[in-house]
Amino acid sequence: MAEHGELVSTNDTALDSARAGDPGRLWITAASQTGGRGRNGRSWTSHPGNLFASLLLIDPAPPRRAPELGFVASIALAQALREVLGDGPAVKIKWPNDILGNGAKVAGILLESAPVAQGLACVAGIGVNCASHPDGPLLYKTNDLSAIAGREVTPGMVLEPLAAFMAHWLGVWSQPAGFETIRAEWLTLAAGQGEKIRVTRPKDAVEGVFKTIDATGRLLLQQDLNEIAIDAGDVFLLPP
Ligand code: BTN
Repeated sequence: MAEHGELVSTNDTALDSARAGDPGRLWITAASQTGGRGRNGRSWTSHPGNLFASLLLIDPAPPRRAPELGFVASIALAQALREVLGDGPAVKIKWPNDILGNGAKVAGILLESAPVAQGLACVAGIGVNCASHPDGPLLYKTNDLSAIAGREVTPGMVLEPLAAFMAHWLGVWSQPAGFETIRAEWLTLAAGQGEKIRVTRPKDAVEGVFKTIDATGRLLLQQDLNEIAIDAGDVFLLPP
């Protein structure tokens, strides 16, 4: 575990460590970030009191399977948040790897990778709203764990179970047919399966029923006569 004060982005520091020869399985945390990044080129508000952590892995799987790491990390994160929050609040994963607490986004994951001398460096960057959440006009409704729990939730309270669940699910993933087990577990935690959703993609938006995810993690959307397989996008749960 490498704990820092302020960083630009824990993902940048993790990739720099890989370029400097780090063998991987390294967690990097920061108390705050000045250039936190989110998915799809968005920024990630990074005030002290929230969790900013990146796990660096070298060659965790063949390169074509690297995107599966997002499903591994989202299961670990959802289970860690369930442990921290207890039975009351509903913790779900919204495809591909946003974590919802009682329907509002409380955490997100940014996967990045780069070839380095040791192999393919893969970074799972995890941001968790523990003490505060951004407000203002946002893509999604957001919240934080302390508000949901009605008591203080600190980054350390999340990181400990997160690291343990991550180690467990990485072990499962590394077994033969590991992604099948990951996929099945992910679906037990998924928000909106069998329900109407809207998916915005870089060039368009599509609506339909969220059927499942396929063997490569693509979202399968059922329209009247078509089934669409979606690689990337932002999911919005629609009222029935
Ligand atoms: C998302 O858009 O939902 C993904 C957010 C990921 C934020 C985390 S905070 C730690 C790591 N460092 C970054 O710059 N981003 C990720």
